[in-house]
Amino acid sequence: MPASDNTPSLQPSILVIFGITGDLSRRKVLPALHNLCRDGLIPDNTKIIGISRREVSHDEIMGIIKDSLAANPSGIDQAALDRLAAWTSMFKLDPVSDADYESLKAKLNQIETESGRCMDRLFYLSIPPQVYAPIIDKLGQHGLNQGCDHQLGQARIMIEKPFGYDVSTAEKLISDTNRVFREEQIFRIDHYLAKETAQNILKFRRHNPVFSKQWNSRHIKRIHVIAKESIGIENRVAFYESVGAMRDLVQSHLMQLLALTAMDMPEHLSSDEVHASKHRFLDSLIPPHGDVLKQVVRGQYDSYRQEVNNPASNTETFVSLVLKSSDPNWHGTEFQLTTGKSLDEKLTKIIVYYGEGGDTNALTFRIQPDEGIDVNLLIEEPGYTNALQEVKMNFSYSQYFDTSGHDAYERVLVDGMRGDHLLFATKSEVMAAWRLLQPVFDYWHNHSQDLVIYPNNGPGPSTTHLNLSYNN
Ligand code: BG6
Repeated sequence: MPASDNTPSLQPSILVIFGITGDLSRRKVLPALHNLCRDGLIPDNTKIIGISRREVSHDEIMGIIKDSLAANPSGIDQAALDRLAAWTSMFKLDPVSDADYESLKAKLNQIETESGRCMDRLFYLSIPPQVYAPIIDKLGQHGLNQGCDHQLGQARIMIEKPFGYDVSTAEKLISDTNRVFREEQIFRIDHYLAKETAQNILKFRRHNPVFSKQWNSRHIKRIHVIAKESIGIENRVAFYESVGAMRDLVQSHLMQLLALTAMDMPEHLSSDEVHASKHRFLDSLIPPHGDVLKQVVRGQYDSYRQEVNNPASNTETFVSLVLKSSDPNWHGTEFQLTTGKSLDEKLTKIIVYYGEGGDTNALTFRIQPDEGIDVNLLIEEPGYTNALQEVKMNFSYSQYFDTSGHDAYERVLVDGMRGDHLLFATKSEVMAAWRLLQPVFDYWHNHSQDLVIYPNNGPGPSTTHLNLSYNN
C-alpha cells in the first residue's frame, strides 16, 4: 500500500530498541517496522539500533527480522528488507555498564554527525518491566534523556505495560521514570488504543447524535467490554505467572476501551482533552468493596498449572468484573469487563446495552476480528402473530474500506516517532486503574478458594452470580 494523503510526516529518527531479539519484538515490533518501511511511512535516513546483552551480528538480526515475518499477513517485501538492512545496526550493551552507555551516546552522536543533522531519539524498552528502572536511570545518568548536543532533536522513551504490579510499584515506576524523562517525553504503550476500531469509538460517538444524545444511564443500562483469547500463555511462563489476566489485560487494555466508551465527550478530541476526560471517568469508578466475590470472578484454564510447572499456581487466566461509577451521568449503569485465555474464540468487542429487562437492544463495537458495528433491534415478525424477533443491522469495515490496513504496533511506532500522545496511556490513567483494582488484588492475596478451574477452549467460568441486574 503506497503512502497516501494521510501519510504521517515524520522526521528521520534514531530508534533504539532494547530487547530487539526478544519475544515481543519478534511478534510485533519487527513486523511493524517492515510494514512501515514497505509502505514508505518511515523516512529514509532513519536509523535503528538494536540493543542486546550478547553479541548479535548484522546477519543474525536480519535473519530474525525475516523469521519474524513468517506470519505477516501481507508477506515479505524484499525492498523493505533491504532498506531495513541498511538502517539497522546492533549494539551490545550490558545494562549496568556505564562505559557501554557512554559508547551508545558516542554512537548516536556519530550517526547525527554523519547525517549532518540532529535527529529525534526514541528509546523503546521492549524488555521485562522489572528492568525498566535501572535502564532508565542509566539513560539519565549518561545524558541520553536529552536530544543531541544542539538541542534540535527530542529524546523520547516508550515503555510497555504492565506499568507496575500494584499501586505502590506503579507509583514508584512512574516517579522513577519522571525523575529522568519529562512526562511529554514518555510514551506508555497500550496497543489496544492504537487498534483502528478503538480509534473510531470517540469519532462514532461524536458524529452520530442518534446514539450520543442518549449516552447516559437513563438509556444505557450496561456496558460490557469483552476480550476473549483462544491462545493460552504460549511460552511466556515467567511473565504470565507473575502478572495474570487482571494486570495483563484488564488494568490496561480493557480499562482504556471502557474509558473511551464511557468518558464525557470533550469539546475537542485533542490529546490533552481526551486524556483529561478518560482520567475523570476512570477516577469516577467505584473500587470493588463489600462482597468482592459478587463483583469479580477469576478462573484458570485447566492445563495452566501443568504448563507453568507449578501445581499450586493461583494465577488467573480469566477475569470478569462488574463496576459502577459515581458520575451522576452513569448512576446505576453497570460496567462489566471480561477477559480470558484458552477460551472458545478470539474476539474483542464492546457491547452497549439499552433498555430494561434484557440484552436485546444493543450497540456493539466489534474491535477484532471482522471489525465493525452491530445494532440489535426488536422487530415484529411478519404475519398474524404479534411476536417480536431480535434482528441485527451490521456494518463491517471490510465492506467499505481496504482493511489490509495497519497493525496497532505500526501506529504505536509512528506516533512515538512523531511525539503524538493521544493513543498512549498517561500516568493519571494508569494510577486510576491501579487504585480501582487494588482491593481485588488485596482480596486475592488473602484468599484462593474463589479461583475456578475451567476447561480449555470452552466458554470460561460462569459469571451469572455477578451483581448484574440481568445476565449475559
Ligand atoms: C498483550 C498481552 O498486551 O495483548 C497478551 O500481554 C495478549 O497476553 C495480547 O495475548 C493480545 O493482543 P491482541 O492484539 O492479539 O488482541
